Amino acid sequence: MNNFRIIARNSLRRRDYSLRSPPSRSFCNLSQESNRPSYGIAFDIDGVILLGSSPVGGSPGALRRLYDDSGALKIPFLFLTNGGGLPESERASEMTHLLGVPVSPFQMVQAHSPFRKLANRFGNELVVAAGKGEPAAVMSNYGFKNVVSLDEYASYFDNIDPLAPYKKWMTGQEVHKETSRSRENVVSERVQAAFIVSDPVDWSRDIQVLCDILRTGGLPGKEIGPQPLLYFANDDLDYQTKFPTERLGMGAFRIALESIFNRIHDNPLEYISFGKPNPFVFKDAEDVLKEIATSHSNQGSHHFKTLYMVGDNPKIDIRGARQAGSPWFSILTRTGVFKGKDNHPEFPADLVRIDIISYVVDTVEEAVDFILTRESAKRSLI
Ligand code: G3P
Ligand code: MG
Repeated sequence: MNNFRIIARNSLRRRDYSLRSPPSRSFCNLSQESNRPSYGIAFDIDGVILLGSSPVGGSPGALRRLYDDSGALKIPFLFLTNGGGLPESERASEMTHLLGVPVSPFQMVQAHSPFRKLANRFGNELVVAAGKGEPAAVMSNYGFKNVVSLDEYASYFDNIDPLAPYKKWMTGQEVHKETSRSRENVVSERVQAAFIVSDPVDWSRDIQVLCDILRTGGLPGKEIGPQPLLYFANDDLDYQTKFPTERLGMGAFRIALESIFNRIHDNPLEYISFGKPNPFVFKDAEDVLKEIATSHSNQGSHHFKTLYMVGDNPKIDIRGARQAGSPWFSILTRTGVFKGKDNHPEFPADLVRIDIISYVVDTVEEAVDFILTRESAKRSLI
């Protein structure tokens, strides 16, 4: 079962979803001493840098080695995660706080970051944004003018969630209305698209309301109509947090929604899944790393000999880097989804030398050690 799919029953597949205009790079100061670095690093977050909100594998110390004594970035790196739910600026300050190193919003490449590219397409059309955190704030940050969270949207329809009275966490709690809308306007305006920005929290309500939107051309409670567009930020079946075994991810939610929708509706569900291992995600990360590498000079384009992807999920991180091809080099850690002794049978991390070792390490600390050693060995050969 391949776990990323661009399900296109019509012309959706050919669009370019790359992330061309990320936040400005001005506050991503690369230290003067790092002259045109020949390599860069992309770190996965869940299972490599953090477990839940706790650093793992010596990540704070490992990352500190990538800065010079003045705190400026010595080695271009970014976080390439299928996670999300907060605007890049907020997530960057959260990471700075958790890891004790200065992280700029420019270094935060989240699963929903490419949604920025779709803002103009929807102009003032109504779209709903689902998931944990602040999905509507994330989308309005990208330039979406008429976006409402699924939480708020559902609150405008009485009795749309028959289980609401049984949800202790909801009873008596006022839904946080991020926008001043009249109920009349919302229930009469057609939803043009639904974005699953981050991992949904209330699956039963979200599946119910999404089916109501997607079956009726965007007008819950009205007659059957053409399906509005549906976008998922990632398609991860599972991922690693603090609990000893993997937790269900957005991909599991997609499977639940799709199988229920396809049972109650004549036409199968159509959707687009973003996130790793999609190749464009790695192309975007390379472009952002190039901008970081040239952030302290106007030396135009930059060429990397090696880009390291440090990940914990063979099917997502390693497979993505391998599919993206050169200059990507994949390193697999054992602090997350992958816990095996040797390499992953189906999606093996890159080998240094066929007969000796493949690059599976216990922790991100070991991964950074391997990268710095390998790169300084290369330099001494020059
Ligand atoms: O929800 C996030 C999870 O699916 C994986 O995150 O950082 O391991 O790509 P990450
Ligand atoms: Mg991970």
